[in-house]
Amino acid sequence: MCGIFAYLNYGVSRERRYILEVLFNGLRRLEYRGYDSAGISIDSSNHSDYEIAPPPLVFRQEGNIETLVKSVYQNIAATDINLEESFSIHAGIAHTRWATHGEPSPENSHPQTSDSGNEFLVVHNGIITNYEVLKETLLRHGFTFESETDTEVIPKLAKFVFDNANEEGNQVVLEVMRHLEGAYALVFKSRHYPNELIACKRGSPLVLGVKELSKEASNGSSFNDAKFLSSNGQPKELFLSSDASALVEHTKKVLMIEDGEVVHVRDGGASIFKFDHTKGKRGGTLTRPASVERALSVLEMEVEQINKGNYEHYMQKEIHEQPESLTTTMRGRLLRGGSSKAKSVLLGGIKDHLKTIRRSRRIVFIGCGTSYNAALAARPILEELTGIPVTMEIASDLLDRQGPIYREDTTVFVSQSGETADTLQALEYALENGALCVGITNTVGSAIARNTHCGVHINAGCEIGVASTKAYTSQIVVMAMLALAIGSDTISSQARREAIIDGLFDLPSKVREVLKLDQELKDLANLLIAEQSLLVFGRGYNYATALEGALKVKEVSLMHSEGILAGEMKHGPLALVDETLPIVVVATRDACFSKQQSVIQQLHARKGRLIVMCTKGDAASVCVGGACRVIEVPRVEDCLQPVINIVPLQLLAYHLTVLRGYNVDQPRNLAKSVTTQ
Ligand code: F6R
Repeated sequence: MCGIFAYLNYGVSRERRYILEVLFNGLRRLEYRGYDSAGISIDSSNHSDYEIAPPPLVFRQEGNIETLVKSVYQNIAATDINLEESFSIHAGIAHTRWATHGEPSPENSHPQTSDSGNEFLVVHNGIITNYEVLKETLLRHGFTFESETDTEVIPKLAKFVFDNANEEGNQVVLEVMRHLEGAYALVFKSRHYPNELIACKRGSPLVLGVKELSKEASNGSSFNDAKFLSSNGQPKELFLSSDASALVEHTKKVLMIEDGEVVHVRDGGASIFKFDHTKGKRGGTLTRPASVERALSVLEMEVEQINKGNYEHYMQKEIHEQPESLTTTMRGRLLRGGSSKAKSVLLGGIKDHLKTIRRSRRIVFIGCGTSYNAALAARPILEELTGIPVTMEIASDLLDRQGPIYREDTTVFVSQSGETADTLQALEYALENGALCVGITNTVGSAIARNTHCGVHINAGCEIGVASTKAYTSQIVVMAMLALAIGSDTISSQARREAIIDGLFDLPSKVREVLKLDQELKDLANLLIAEQSLLVFGRGYNYATALEGALKVKEVSLMHSEGILAGEMKHGPLALVDETLPIVVVATRDACFSKQQSVIQQLHARKGRLIVMCTKGDAASVCVGGACRVIEVPRVEDCLQPVINIVPLQLLAYHLTVLRGYNVDQPRNLAKSVTTQ
């Protein structure tokens, strides 16, 4: 998992400094995808008179983007390269890396190169699973390798293909694709095709952005998507990015590149070729697919959404914008009913499949990390309102076990990014087994959104902080609405469903109320700052809160933290309890409340250092039998309480991290979307 950004200006004069800044800004937007090393390649000179362009400049650096930026400008200052030199056409590529093969170092950073003359340069997101075999073959053909990456085989393979066939860029890339196994999004820059970019993908995301600069197009009167895809010679800026959020400050006109497509950007246009892996087996003759036409779509995203605004960190912003993100998640989906009509839920993306879902033998939730926790929070209400058995699967575990999935199952894939490799592979597995596949994602056009039979977008808005916060609460709300929609044919639960719908309407204002606890949670974080460990106990609806709260604390503040099912306390975890270890117990009002009261008493009896989260007004009844610190939260409908209860724990994790001096938006060793297994 890494971030790719590429920029080509056509027919519009841009100075080298400007080009560098566009590429750097693209990387800054994508930094959440990986931040242990970065690299960039731009042209060393204008080269319209050359058959083969002079070797491009390549800069690669261990560390984050700002370290790269500094070193690029320092390196350039030490040469006679002019930052003000203008290019009326120029193709630049850039990359931010999350190391998988080989430690973070300049050699392992991208662009990776074919040779010392940089004939082919490649930036890559994904993993090439057969790189060892390819490397052996290339070594036999005299290539030498300088990195430990799987990526390095790609530019070398491109050079090998080019040297043997002298093909056009798109044909070279199609041929390279025939040899690659694994997941990838790639952008190629080559001295043989100066002023061109060639991109392709399989499994990893890649988006093309188009900014039309002509007068004709800028007034919007005659822009024609199909026309764009051929060469129409109008001045343009074209971008390739791992994520649409890095494009929105330049353009909203995008093309989500599909698996198996090769996009050849040249002469102010882009041709798209479809790689057909049923044709042209390895070693056979080169297939020559015709170009296909695709229409551009328009991004529904605003630049403000991807800026921090008045907040210091993305995680902080995303925690505080939950009242708004929840409102957007529910917009147009809750129907208030009327004098004769009941309140109801409308989920357009699944309405045609409701009958099939109701007839399923099981509902199987599949996800990873926070997305899995969100599904766990929604499981009880799904079971209650649908009467269908609901099982939970962590995607990687399902794959490891090759667990049974049947035609009669409804499988629900929950993923913020819609690109998580394990979840995607589990989706392929469920499709092969004939199950109905439903996607719940935050990313329109993502692989999971595209490949499932139907689904619901969570519409939480762009989430940039590596720790998922607003996506989690929106996912729970979507799954509660899913339960309401599936169960809507049962008259006996009508009153319960209406109460939940009322609760959903009220939820944003209740979340706003919890957010007022910010200072209180900061004070608590100050008390816990030096602790080694934190336990979080929950049960019922709030077992998920315990797991998710602990996950937030550990992933950003780097403090060990464990979420524990309170019902399991006596079966082991109780041994850890003493007067020093801080323990959060979630004991808000629901059917499990009295059991949680008894847990609190047992923890008091072992002199546990307790922080109890309870419903407003319950402080006295939860703290019987010993001293404890209390976090009081508003009460909502029981199945929606996890949405409220996670917020103080998100705030605690945030403040702990900042107070401990760690980078809250870029936690150590993590990246936002895990597109490799
Ligand atoms: C934790 C976190 C991860 C993700 C997990 C799945 O804060 O963000 O645990 O939830 O990697 O990612 P998605 O939801 O994109 O499939």
